[in-house]
Amino acid sequence: MEKQVVPFEVNTIRKEFPILEKEIDGKRLIYLDNAATTQKPTVVINAIEEFYRENNANVHRGVYPLSEKATEKYESARVKAQKFINASESSEVIFTRGVTEGINFLSVSLCRYGLFEEESEIIISEMEHHSNIVPWQLVCGKSKIRIKTIPVTDSGELDLDAYKKLFSEKTKLVSVTHVSNTLGTINDIKEITKIAHEHGVPIIIDGAQAAAHLKIDVQKTDCDFYVISGHKAFAPTGIGILYGKRKWLDKIPPYQGGGEMIDKVTFTKSTFAEPPAKFEAGTQNIAGAIGLGKALEFINNLNRKETERYEKELLEYATHKLKEIKGLKIIGEAKRKSAVISFVVQDVNSYDIGTLLGNYGIAVRTGHHCTQPLMKRFGIQGTVRISLALYNTKEEVDLFIRHLKKVLKILG
Ligand code: ALA
Repeated sequence: MEKQVVPFEVNTIRKEFPILEKEIDGKRLIYLDNAATTQKPTVVINAIEEFYRENNANVHRGVYPLSEKATEKYESARVKAQKFINASESSEVIFTRGVTEGINFLSVSLCRYGLFEEESEIIISEMEHHSNIVPWQLVCGKSKIRIKTIPVTDSGELDLDAYKKLFSEKTKLVSVTHVSNTLGTINDIKEITKIAHEHGVPIIIDGAQAAAHLKIDVQKTDCDFYVISGHKAFAPTGIGILYGKRKWLDKIPPYQGGGEMIDKVTFTKSTFAEPPAKFEAGTQNIAGAIGLGKALEFINNLNRKETERYEKELLEYATHKLKEIKGLKIIGEAKRKSAVISFVVQDVNSYDIGTLLGNYGIAVRTGHHCTQPLMKRFGIQGTVRISLALYNTKEEVDLFIRHLKKVLKILG
């Protein structure tokens, strides 16, 4: 059946998010920190409440009707996630805590699988979040894995010519972000994947900043793994997904051991269940998964072309307004950008700007944004970052700009 396409109307969307109507400390909330976490629509809040009020039981364990109902809701959330990323089967979707756990999971499982040897190399990029740097350093020790980085150009794009030259016979893995949380750059993950595969190397894509903004198609991209954090896509905190091609999920060992992930257990040896159960040890965040399913369905029901167009329009509008401010420099001006704008102002501390904006009810993020190597690349300590979502408006951008000017006056 054809999906009914509803024209995008920002005021209608805003009504779905109760927190946007609230005053915080007596001030209207202008929420421009969506890269940190997004707000939650009523359908998601209600789904969680409904689960605890009416369907709460453990999943895959009980033979009684309540447990069967909970299991059905949990598994139907997995199917919604499968549809959202266009995975070929639902068993390729593993529930996790989010991107951080997804990458830690892969670093441990791929290491146990034996992907890495002494002196193996992995390729990440200079714009990675710490969650795609530190797990690789932790897992095998410095001597085993060497990290090589794809350089970032002055405009904030990945240098793909340099990327091609990073491969050697020691390269075992590529792991890059889809969208930079700091610069907003949208990377050409299809091309990056193609290049990795030409060298016979698997690839992980960090989709943390993409899920709420871009259409994700893991089959078209052909990536081996793709990780998402629910809370950045209108879902609850503490839930996310890891997509893995079935051929990988069949061969890599589990990340954690525990209940429901086994086939047979003895004191000397255990065998494991088929994916996805193999990777979901212990009682999962069932309500979170159901909330995530609702959030992804909410996004899928939107006219994605329209929301992408709207966010682009907001990005261009805010960029233009910011550029009019004297002494302000935008960090990251890639050709393809998500609605994230990082900036610095000459002789003014980013943290001070963020704190004073907060006093006016305007929520922005300041600092290194968990991308310290990227800050070093640009020779700065930190930035002020605004990150917009489909419920933000031009009027909010105007209020932000007006208050930013006021704050810069105060700070001299
Ligand atoms: N990774 C999140 C951000 O960029 C928390 O703010």
